[in-house]
Amino acid sequence: MALRTLFSKKAFTTASGFRPIAAGDRCFLRQARGLTVAALPDLAYDYGALEPAISGEIMRLHHQKHHQAYVTNYNNALEQLETAVAKGDASAVVRLQSAIKFNGGGHINHSIFWKNLKPVNEGGGEPPHSTLGWAIDTDFCSLEALVQKMNAEGAALQGSGWVWLALDKGSKKLSVETTSNQDPLVTKGANLVPLLGIDVWEHAYYLQYKNVRPDYLKNIWKVVLHAASLSVPTGEESTIRIVSLQGTETFLLPTCNELKNRQSL
Ligand SMILES: [Fe+2]
Repeated sequence: MALRTLFSKKAFTTASGFRPIAAGDRCFLRQARGLTVAALPDLAYDYGALEPAISGEIMRLHHQKHHQAYVTNYNNALEQLETAVAKGDASAVVRLQSAIKFNGGGHINHSIFWKNLKPVNEGGGEPPHSTLGWAIDTDFCSLEALVQKMNAEGAALQGSGWVWLALDKGSKKLSVETTSNQDPLVTKGANLVPLLGIDVWEHAYYLQYKNVRPDYLKNIWKVVLHAASLSVPTGEESTIRIVSLQGTETFLLPTCNELKNRQSL
């Protein structure tokens, strides 16, 4: 199944009482524009296709119930925000921020998560190639060391949250980050791009792994698609393509010389 559009335009019904206005007036522009709402993306694989690493029951509930709830609640909060802004209701605008952050973050994070997974017979679990593989070796010594670090930080994360492999698009260095609840990676730094995100909420594993989060973390690597962040050599430099909610974004990876220099420091 193809991934369908993550957002769709929805007609925005303005609050009544707007005065008649001329074209070019700010209010006119506001009335004229649509509210962009989120939509649940289809998965590129069947719910049972990641078994035995992740059960089909977990995948179905996770996608149809949990992710759908974030989408629904985010859209509701956005519509309420539009109304609050139209009314000049500052209290409501402030009150809605936490719902927008939590549910919008949930939508962003899960949309990345589904893209990071792939059935074994379609490339899931294969180690990263090309420059991404070299960058991992440089910044973490080896893929095994990266896996160990992400699993340790994911297991130690208190409560619910995410563990990330991040690319700093300024320094071009990789790092492991964690975020709490549904905070997206960007809350840890505007320069950080998510190459891989692993959901460590209990809803992602409890039906199959009960309270043993480390076993879930160990097995999920069997269906991780490192190529979700496509590493593409372009002359002397390599780029990495990230599929984000805004479409495909491209970032530079370190060159071989930069990696060699980093290793010699
Ligand atoms: Fe989740």
